[in-house]
Amino acid sequence: ANRAPLKITVIGTGYLGATHAAAMAELGFEVLGLDISPEKVAMLERGETPMYEPGLEELLRKHVAGHPDSSGRLRFTTSYEEVAEFGDIHFVCVNTPQKHGEYACDMSYVDSALESLAPRLTRPALVVGKSTVPVGSAARLAERLTELAPVGEDAELAWNPEFLREGFAVQDTLHPDRIVVGVRSERAEQQLREVYATPLAEGSPFVVTDFPTAELVKTSANSFLATKISFINAMAEVCEAADGDVVKLAEAIGHDDRIGKKFLRAGIGFGGGCLPKDIRAFMARAGELGASQALTFLREVDSINMRRRAQMVELARDAVGGTLLGTRIGVLGATFKPDSDDVRDSPALNVAGQLHLQGAQVTVYDPKGMENARALFPTLRYAPSALDAVRGADAVLHLTEWREFQELDPAALGEVVAVRHVLDGRNTLDPVLWRKANWKFRALGRPTA
Ligand code: UGA
Repeated sequence: ANRAPLKITVIGTGYLGATHAAAMAELGFEVLGLDISPEKVAMLERGETPMYEPGLEELLRKHVAGHPDSSGRLRFTTSYEEVAEFGDIHFVCVNTPQKHGEYACDMSYVDSALESLAPRLTRPALVVGKSTVPVGSAARLAERLTELAPVGEDAELAWNPEFLREGFAVQDTLHPDRIVVGVRSERAEQQLREVYATPLAEGSPFVVTDFPTAELVKTSANSFLATKISFINAMAEVCEAADGDVVKLAEAIGHDDRIGKKFLRAGIGFGGGCLPKDIRAFMARAGELGASQALTFLREVDSINMRRRAQMVELARDAVGGTLLGTRIGVLGATFKPDSDDVRDSPALNVAGQLHLQGAQVTVYDPKGMENARALFPTLRYAPSALDAVRGADAVLHLTEWREFQELDPAALGEVVAVRHVLDGRNTLDPVLWRKANWKFRALGRPTA
């Protein structure tokens, strides 16, 4: 039988939701995205994104209704009525930030999305959670859904964690390296296979699990990644003590394909809206479940990570002669990673902020993160280019590994600084190049000369 194609809604239009909505339209579905912010909805309708994500605006414009030559398959709204009426499948993509002053994650956005949607479901629907949540949430939400939905059992829940990386969100969504679905029925599984038919046809593995396993896949994957980074950063600490080179070490152990080369870049550590809060929420949840001992190592992963930021501040202090007060520091990078304008829990800004608090005059430049950085740290100085940020500096700190910084000309920068002293907090600058241009070059986990 020729059934009508599934209609999809996406609730929450942050990194995850905006990308997911555009990707679903690209896969051929009619999509309605919801955000509670009318400003955000208006922006998206113009084909603009509230954040910088390579390729996303292009994809939006290709599909947003009303845009010249668009497919017209993608629309946005602030109305839950409209969403409930429109969709066969509702993806919940709202964020789950860390609770203020606690390790646990704040489920209020997920809860209120469900509380708003469920009572309006008067036709059969599959509600699919994508947000990163503490294990056990899906079971609780499923119960709430059947309680609240007028269609009762015909409203079903599934959990489908998302693994996209900022900076690669579009690519990761259209070509996921795996699709994980936690389901309680054959029908839910079939509907999700239909949604993901294209990536499945292209060979993405499809893993079907129960609810708790699906939720845990996400938190354990992020915990593993965080652990890998902290492992190499711990090796960097040992290298610093023993005069070894962590960059060479990482390269050498990475040749063992059981270890692998990726996520072994030592530096000032991980930040962003995911890894730090996910490992903390995971520890908090394990505690509630009586399994806290299983995750005590994540506490160590977290401390190693935070120590690297402190070590960077120490290196900077050392570089300017023992006291930061009254010195000038040029900082390259503000975002938590390149190809993003996201400064949430950014190691770069955290280091810049500490230097400022200790009396240095800090001037920051970042290719895309200036606006967000300024909003978060208005007391720092900001410059419109790398050259301007380092003008008159007693030391230059490289804290986010934008390609632009790897392509800088050390000789040209050398002309404008007060002292040619560069500290690489990301281990992506070429020491040979900088030293050749008469810079003193230091990096985390690498020998002094
Ligand atoms: C992370 C995961 O990689 C995604 O798979 C996951 O879907 C996402 O969180 C999420 O939970 O939503 P993302 O936060 O975009 O993605 O950033 P990553 O690429 O993982 O980088 C995290 C941090 O680790 C950055 O600050 C980066 O600079 C740092 N990092 C990464 C290192 O210090 N060393 C490395 O070798 C790799």
